[in-house]
Amino acid sequence: MAHIINNKSILLSAFLMLVGSYHGKGLGNDKASAEGTVYENPAKTVDDRVEDLLSRMTLDEKIGQMTQVDRQFLERDSDIATYFLGSLLSGGGSTPAENRPQAWADMYDRYQKIALSSRLGIPILYGIDAVHGHNNVVGATIFPHNIGLGCTNNPDLVERVSRITALEVAGTGIDWTFAPCIAVPRDERWGRTYEGFGEEPGIVARLGKAAVRGFQTAELGNPGGILACAKHFVGDGGTKWGTGRNGKADRGDTQISEEELRAIHLPGYLSAIEEGVGSIMASYNQWNGTYCHASKFLLTDLLKEELGFQGFVVSDWEGIDQIPGDYKSDIITAINAGIDMVMVPGAVPFGGEPYTRFIKLLKEAVEEGSVPVSRIDDAVRRILRIKFQMGLFENPYTDRSLTDKIGSPEHREVAREAVRQSLVLLKNNNGLLPLSKRAGRILVSGKNADNLGNQCGGWTISWQGGSGPVTEGTTILEAIREAVSPTTEVVFSIDGSGVKNADAAVVVVGETPYAEWEGDKDNLALDENDLETIRRIKNAGIPTVVIIISGRPLIIEPDVADWDALIAAWLPGTEGQGVTDVLFGDYNPTGKLSMSWPRSMSQIPINVGDKKYDPLFKYGFGLRY
Ligand code: GLC
Repeated sequence: MAHIINNKSILLSAFLMLVGSYHGKGLGNDKASAEGTVYENPAKTVDDRVEDLLSRMTLDEKIGQMTQVDRQFLERDSDIATYFLGSLLSGGGSTPAENRPQAWADMYDRYQKIALSSRLGIPILYGIDAVHGHNNVVGATIFPHNIGLGCTNNPDLVERVSRITALEVAGTGIDWTFAPCIAVPRDERWGRTYEGFGEEPGIVARLGKAAVRGFQTAELGNPGGILACAKHFVGDGGTKWGTGRNGKADRGDTQISEEELRAIHLPGYLSAIEEGVGSIMASYNQWNGTYCHASKFLLTDLLKEELGFQGFVVSDWEGIDQIPGDYKSDIITAINAGIDMVMVPGAVPFGGEPYTRFIKLLKEAVEEGSVPVSRIDDAVRRILRIKFQMGLFENPYTDRSLTDKIGSPEHREVAREAVRQSLVLLKNNNGLLPLSKRAGRILVSGKNADNLGNQCGGWTISWQGGSGPVTEGTTILEAIREAVSPTTEVVFSIDGSGVKNADAAVVVVGETPYAEWEGDKDNLALDENDLETIRRIKNAGIPTVVIIISGRPLIIEPDVADWDALIAAWLPGTEGQGVTDVLFGDYNPTGKLSMSWPRSMSQIPINVGDKKYDPLFKYGFGLRY
């Protein structure tokens, strides 16, 4: 009898599930038995939970999991449940009304609560570009951008930097960062050069691996760990100048052989996968004319089959829209190529596709057979596996014990350590450096001496970043004032005028913030105002230390010959004291160039290993006191 009853109850629940799944409404209570379902039981294996949950999902629910929307473009918050969205993101600058940690955490928890109210209660993954700290959040610790970390060549430090970033991200509830960027920038004219660790694949592989470990800890699911995302797959740093957006570099065509692609741009992914990276972002660029987002060879044959990547592939922002053809064909091409989650993101006010249209067209594609159900199931399996591994079903809300630690002195101390290890001493005539803290008078000058936004660079509070007091931190001028003795006079003159004498001048020049294609430049010479400022001070006969704040090496010949000392500080972030630690000798500089420093624009691209190689400063160069 018991057997018959069992058979009957199995038949009944199968029938009800069939009925439920067809209408997509599902059943009020899906519990197969008293102790709940397999997928809700953390004692079950991840694979068992994935398969059980997948078997219960309607096509609408599966497609929802593959859909990522920017929270600023939600038609209504309830759409998270209505469309079973698998993920939200904050693109650069997509912040809550009050840009403070508590408000972020409240926003995350509100969205998560809606997601959990859906029929199967699948939690969302929430992604953000925490690429040099939790850089969208006012008050967060902002670390040096990757080019500076590359010059530290210190995997342990990079792991600690990423660990702290993860804690600050988790303190706002957010569980996924679109980092590390493991681009290998080969042409400094590319606006995203500073997002890469360096031009040599080995250093990118070493530091990328360390960053993944820092973000995710030794395995997904540990407290304070977040999901990492190695990006952008593949060859983003190798595009040919002139083939990109606005005829420049970004999102251009990487015109190299498969052998060179594997040698230069793939090692970072091998090490990230070895470290267990849970997500990888497809790249905007083409490889020899085929968009990465459309390449089954790259995304499936190479990444998933040959390299054995078990996580999921997320598209870049509207990354599938650029594929030739209409939106529906873009969707079919991209999903069949191996994209598992689409960053739609629903930017209708800016001409983007509504996420409801993405969902509708993908469902049509599946129902007409253009996208096999097996491909949908593979994508959803990959996404669910990560969500179970991360423990999101058990701990879906913000760990508020981490929220108050955002921007803490301890975190900033590690950022300061990263700054001083990232600085590269390129010139030091007559041992001008280190300066004395007891000098009579120090002149501080240059547009980047007292400008927190400029020293942080792009991807800071907003997408492009911005000049001025954009967040909380210490400018280089403030750090100098703090460091010197009470008897030392520190005079600030932004253009160097009005000061006839001083024991030394510190002139902080370079670039102002930019991100992505906004930073593509075909002339990297130091700007005229900067050069004028330095000349004015030199003409006053004051020994001059030039500090360059920039996202890449700049063209500084012939003027550099007149400078007494030169430090490359890259984009150090909020902790300006890391610069004065080196300036006054509390730290003997150890930084080594992770990018060759060209003499002129005509030398670019110039990379270590080139047959003809005569840079101003070689890859790996850096002086000590
Ligand atoms: C951007 C970038 C990518 C970033 C994404 C989300 O366009 O290419 O690095 O993660 O959009 O902001």
